[in-house]
Amino acid sequence: MTTTSVRPGARSSADWITIEQATFMPNRRPPMVIERGQGSRVWDVEGREYLDMIAGIAVVSLGHSSPVVQRALAEQSARLIHISNLWYSIPQLELAQLLMDHSPFDKVFFCNSGAEANEAALKLARKWGKRNRDGAYALITAEHAFHGRTLATVTATGKEAYTRSFTPLPEGFVQIPFNDMDALERAVDATTAGVFLEPIQGEAGVHVATQSYLRDVQDFCRDKGLLFVLDEVQTGVGRLGTLWGFERWGVEPDIMTLAKGLGGGVPIGAVLAKDPAAVFEPGDHGSTFGGNPLMCAVAHAVVTYILENDVLGNVNRVGAVLKQGLEALVGTAPLVESVRGEGLLLAIELREEKAPDVARLGIEEGVLLNATGPTTIRMAPPLTLSAAEAEEAIDKFQRAIAKV
Ligand SMILES: Cc1ncc(COP(=O)(O)O)c(C=O)c1O
Repeated sequence: MTTTSVRPGARSSADWITIEQATFMPNRRPPMVIERGQGSRVWDVEGREYLDMIAGIAVVSLGHSSPVVQRALAEQSARLIHISNLWYSIPQLELAQLLMDHSPFDKVFFCNSGAEANEAALKLARKWGKRNRDGAYALITAEHAFHGRTLATVTATGKEAYTRSFTPLPEGFVQIPFNDMDALERAVDATTAGVFLEPIQGEAGVHVATQSYLRDVQDFCRDKGLLFVLDEVQTGVGRLGTLWGFERWGVEPDIMTLAKGLGGGVPIGAVLAKDPAAVFEPGDHGSTFGGNPLMCAVAHAVVTYILENDVLGNVNRVGAVLKQGLEALVGTAPLVESVRGEGLLLAIELREEKAPDVARLGIEEGVLLNATGPTTIRMAPPLTLSAAEAEEAIDKFQRAIAKV
């Protein structure tokens, strides 16, 4: 039991952080407490304003406290918040229909997060392998992938730092270098059920699959009778300027997972599958909260808004402004080595291991940035970011690196 209680009198960031230190299993975060947000901006409890270039890790797709999200929450919460997967509910069915109408998939399973969506996809792949590939169960994943933190998804992620305290890990995961077709061909054996990749490795620092790689993986999977599974938790729902990331590569996976931007800030995940891969039967999988009416109503409103308001056009236009503006810093500003990414999922590679310093100094300059590693800054702002805000972000980023 802890002796510190959350006091209504707590006002400053320091006050709140004292409470955090007494009550939380530790996490590392900068010493300020965000109190409210609007559009692409947030404010801390001291009233300082920040341009949010990471949007809750690529989640707040329509901006903070979007009226679209607020309206859906208000209307649906007055009607029905939760009913469980024992019963049908209208928002769930409407969202399922919307996703099927705008994708090449046939069936969906709803859950609450990216890890859960991937966990469900892994179970689907195993069941599919049992039925269709003589009991094959293994998934080939990529080095530096990120698929989540449950035991199976962290094993698929394969990063030793994330797994070492939690062994023994589940069997059936084989890791190969990303963008390396020869390695994939060598890795396949009788136990392989499928290949499980991100089109852009976001958490690893925005490493983009080459055009030929994803096409070749798709063709190889079709040729060998393997499942082609894409984790679009970060890249899906408009982030790359297409509704689904895979459209940029001209491929179609058998299974796709979503979360993050789908709910525009509320927790929801989904697995979408083509009919042959949609092998769950009653009792195979489930989630009490998955597909609850409140989250589904919000996700439906978010996806509808994206489709009807040229949000994808905005991502392409503003993404180009941001990328070109950042590229102009290569060779002119200190530290900046290169820029990569698509749409509004970009990374700046630094020449020295200063990314955490840049993110810290960004806070002083009034911009939220994310260091995904010692040399990499990621930007994944709201999809509704304006061109003027993109210019402002470049300016603030430039001032942060000048201070390092
Ligand atoms: C590609 C990808 N997959 C899965 C996840 C895990 O999602 P969640 O944190 O919602 O479990 C993430 C989170 O960053 C991700 O980027």
